[in-house]
Amino acid sequence: MPKHMADKKAKVVVLISGRGSNMMSLVEAARARDYPAEIVSVISNRPDAAGVPWAAAQSIATEVIDHKAFKSREAFEAELETALVASGAEIVALAGFMRLMTPGFVARWQTRMINIHPSLLPNFKGLHTHEQALAAGVKIAGCTVHYVRAEMDAGPIIAQAAVPVLSGDTAATLAARVLAAEHRLYPSALRLVALGRTRIVDEKVILSEDVNDSLPLFSPRV
Ligand code: GRF
Repeated sequence: MPKHMADKKAKVVVLISGRGSNMMSLVEAARARDYPAEIVSVISNRPDAAGVPWAAAQSIATEVIDHKAFKSREAFEAELETALVASGAEIVALAGFMRLMTPGFVARWQTRMINIHPSLLPNFKGLHTHEQALAAGVKIAGCTVHYVRAEMDAGPIIAQAAVPVLSGDTAATLAARVLAAEHRLYPSALRLVALGRTRIVDEKVILSEDVNDSLPLFSPRV
């Protein structure tokens, strides 16, 4: 579904489970008149997610679909699917959404559901990703926006951002540095998807236009 700036904005539903700072960065970016997507709804699977009242205060439709109220993953996803269709979702953006999706649900949204993970995938999947990076002793960390697949933190990579790991880093200081990068990366990756500039070929993303310079990131700096 290629889109151009002149077309109407792509309708995006953001799924969260907690704090929602990445959702907030998408909402803030989408305020720009020329941003090609609008956040039509924020859905949380946890009633206590801090992002929900924040989104409601921005006059965005919010919904809590508590997974604990459903007997099975499929039943939860059926309710989620109903909410997504009702909101006219064209793109689903997971932002700290802590539920694995079944293969059936993933297949339905195969080319329309994206996620952000705070590591340079395919390294350091799952929880405690910053602890994993520190334990591995890498000098460069980062974050990844990717299409969602049934396997956790897998799927065609749309965009990545890298940050240095510094000698005194703890998981908390590294997480903060990566999170700042996430808040810039996710809006720019969603923009590419909303504009139809991403094509999945052999489970890899081809961008219609590469916008990179050739500067490498050195850590430590040379
Ligand atoms: C982010 O680091 C995101 O990459 C990961 O979980 C965290 C969620 O943070 N999937 P927030 O809820 O967006 O503030």
